[in-house]
Amino acid sequence: MIGIFDSGAGGLSVYREIVRLLPGEKYVYYSDNAHCPYGEKTRDYIIDRARKITDFLLGEGCDVIVVACNTATAAAIATLRAEYDVPFIGMEPAVKQAALHTRSGVVGVLATAGTLKADKYHDTRDRYADGVEVVERIGEGFVELVEAGVLDGPEAEAVVGRSLRPLLDAGADMVVLGCTHYPFLLPVIRRLAGPGVTVIDPAPAAARHLLNVMKDRGLVRRDGQPTKIGDPKAADIRLFSSGPRAALERIFSIL
Ligand code: DGL
Repeated sequence: MIGIFDSGAGGLSVYREIVRLLPGEKYVYYSDNAHCPYGEKTRDYIIDRARKITDFLLGEGCDVIVVACNTATAAAIATLRAEYDVPFIGMEPAVKQAALHTRSGVVGVLATAGTLKADKYHDTRDRYADGVEVVERIGEGFVELVEAGVLDGPEAEAVVGRSLRPLLDAGADMVVLGCTHYPFLLPVIRRLAGPGVTVIDPAPAAARHLLNVMKDRGLVRRDGQPTKIGDPKAADIRLFSSGPRAALERIFSIL
């Protein structure tokens, strides 16, 4: 059984990709929306939340956990791996992929404050973005838009534009989405960025990584209800949240 958690509904963008590859698994999704956003919280706070959620997911019978949150991955995954026996799959901004494919030599990264200040992110950037200019911006207000279900329209465009514009003005032709909430704003991001800019959602790569880890450890069991391949809503999934369920259900309904 696969456990997935995030500070809110954003991790459903990762679940959506996972279920394409593993349609017959059982899933438990935990939205920690009572404590959302994680982006401005301290590392210790996020580690504490990650432990509590991990205990909950293990109690539900999960044997692999996807930390479907870049901020929680940066803050807590090393601690979780040291303290628990189950495998943890984390999220990382796809700076490597962007640096390999940029033609302008400028890569834009949108992520939370927590991710952008973490050593884990700095290590990745310093390792893979050699010779490439990396321009970073916090996606100010993006998480709040997604949790409120405002995924398009003038308000979403105004909020997204404020953080995206500086990346485009700097010449970025690759924009990395370093927060799992942001893919739900992809139509707006793509429209504002224009056709010359590639926007990278790291969820498909994380899903492939999960599949490989599960195969290696013999965890692929397909014990859930058989579902139409790739239909996230038809899969065997239970949704939990620490706060009101409405936001989670709203995003789930549009998967
Ligand atoms: N979805 C999260 C991430 O990937 C966290 C957003 C937040 O709670 O600030 O970083």
